[in-house]
Amino acid sequence: MAEYIYLLSKDAVIIKPPKKSSMLLRMVVLMFAMTFGVYICTICRQQISSLSKVTIKNIQVIDEPSNTADHSVFHVPKLHYPNPESFSREECVDNPVRYFAIVSTQRSGSGWFETLLNSHVNVSSNGEIFSVLDRRRNFSAIVETLDRVYNLDWFSSASKNECSAAVGFKWMLNQGVMEHHEEIVEYLNRRGVSLIFLFRRNLLRRMVSLLANSYDKYAKLLNGTHKSHVHTTEEAETLSQFKPIVNSTLLISDLRRAEILVAKALEYYNTTRHMVVYYEDLVKDSKVS
Ligand SMILES: *[C@@H]1O[C@H](CO)[C@@H](O)[C@H](O)[C@H]1NC(C)=O
Ligand SMILES: *[C@@H]1O[C@H](CO)[C@@H](O)[C@H](O)[C@H]1NC(C)=O
Ligand SMILES: *[C@@H]1O[C@H](CO)[C@@H](O)[C@H](O)[C@H]1NC(C)=O
Ligand SMILES: *[C@@H]1O[C@H](CO)[C@@H](O)[C@H](O)[C@H]1NC(C)=O
Ligand SMILES: *[C@@H]1O[C@H](CO)[C@@H](O)[C@H](O)[C@H]1NC(C)=O
Repeated sequence: MAEYIYLLSKDAVIIKPPKKSSMLLRMVVLMFAMTFGVYICTICRQQISSLSKVTIKNIQVIDEPSNTADHSVFHVPKLHYPNPESFSREECVDNPVRYFAIVSTQRSGSGWFETLLNSHVNVSSNGEIFSVLDRRRNFSAIVETLDRVYNLDWFSSASKNECSAAVGFKWMLNQGVMEHHEEIVEYLNRRGVSLIFLFRRNLLRRMVSLLANSYDKYAKLLNGTHKSHVHTTEEAETLSQFKPIVNSTLLISDLRRAEILVAKALEYYNTTRHMVVYYEDLVKDSKVS
């Protein structure tokens, strides 16, 4: 027994002391690394907390208002049979029409999304009709415009024929959507209009796109013309030469303001029939988004 202990302690005497101190050192380093890691994580979380609030919300989910919220939404039919004043729907008079509006922000892919919708022969998305100030100066002007769109009396290059099965337009958050939200929600629910919220997850890229677009507006890189949306590879390559200068002092507050705007819009319109779509989820090519 004594010999056994001796043999053991012999090893222990020789090996243990250095092992003990290195273990201690390791523990200290580990503890330090853990504490520091947690500290960094808290800082990061603080900085991106409002960002994650928006991104976690509704990812490609069709978000119907809850049953307890507002029963009126469910009593309004989704299908409509409008009677346009400017033409007769003729043989399609019994074809139902769906009403929609794409609610978005500039440089978020809504132009591309709208082109996609309009490629369907019976879908008509009439563009950014509220870019004209007179159409959104007050709520009665907005209603007049909306009534014409949903009565199929609005004419644009995207207008379809008497057999249109869905009609809508795109509406930017800075075009009266936020100012008149209460009346607009009431109108949309009364008339059975569905909303498609289209936003970008990567708000920094959106900011760069805004900068590039405004730079191109006065520099006119494309042979002296300004195009909000490029249509060829050459045009895209020319515009991609642009190197934005981001004001780092204002960066975080600018991004935060954009996030808050989106979150607020979703809250204001939470009782409408709507879905939330993110551009990055629609576009598979990561270089594009
Ligand atoms: C909509 O948002 C308001 C304000 O935050 C909230 O009180 C209400 O419960 C929300 N309604 C639904 C249906 O989520
Ligand atoms: C468009 O509407 C017409 C008339 O209802 C219908 O015959 C046709 O199949 C529709 N086209 C598509 C692609 O759904
Ligand atoms: C609303 O705006 C339209 C267009 O700017 C104007 O003609 C009309 O008088 C305004 N109505 C009210 C009630 O302010
Ligand atoms: C600009 O114009 C030239 C000559 O017409 C043409 O070759 C070139 O492709 C144009 N560039 C762009 C970016 O449109
Ligand atoms: C960034 O914006 C702030 C506030 O507007 C301004 O004072 C500052 O000069 C800007 N910085 C640059 C590099 O433009």
